[in-house]
Amino acid sequence: MISQDNIKELFERATAAKVNAYVPYSHYKVGAAILSGSGRFYCGCNFENASFGATICAERNAVGAFVQAGEKKLLAIGIVAEGSILPYPCGICRQVLSEWGGDSRVYVFDEQGTYREHTLAELLPFAFSLEEQ
Ligand code: THU
Repeated sequence: MISQDNIKELFERATAAKVNAYVPYSHYKVGAAILSGSGRFYCGCNFENASFGATICAERNAVGAFVQAGEKKLLAIGIVAEGSILPYPCGICRQVLSEWGGDSRVYVFDEQGTYREHTLAELLPFAFSLEEQ
């Protein structure tokens, strides 16, 4: 379902999104790109706040763009950050992504484009939901 071209584009778009991350506190830039069911891509970067808890992760920023565009199916998300540690999404972002189901693919890239692929259900088993799973 997700082609090698799609994966490459997720990496390229997430890498481009990372450039303008606003990170005066952590100095840790993250970029994310979502591939929707309509074949379009939605991107986001992290942006921090002096009230640290108000910080928004790159993944949730990308989800906002996806939702605003009226998209309903989240096929995949790619995430890239600075440094050598693979940028696995935080717990809040996993929970946010779980609104679109456990089948979404999550690609965590290093800065060279080498990646690991997971389903969201692998990363967040037994996600909280108000509906029977
Ligand atoms: N961050 C993300 O953008 N995504 C995650 O899944 C985890 C953390 C950001 C938030 C903050 O700006 C910086 O990384 C350090 O926590």
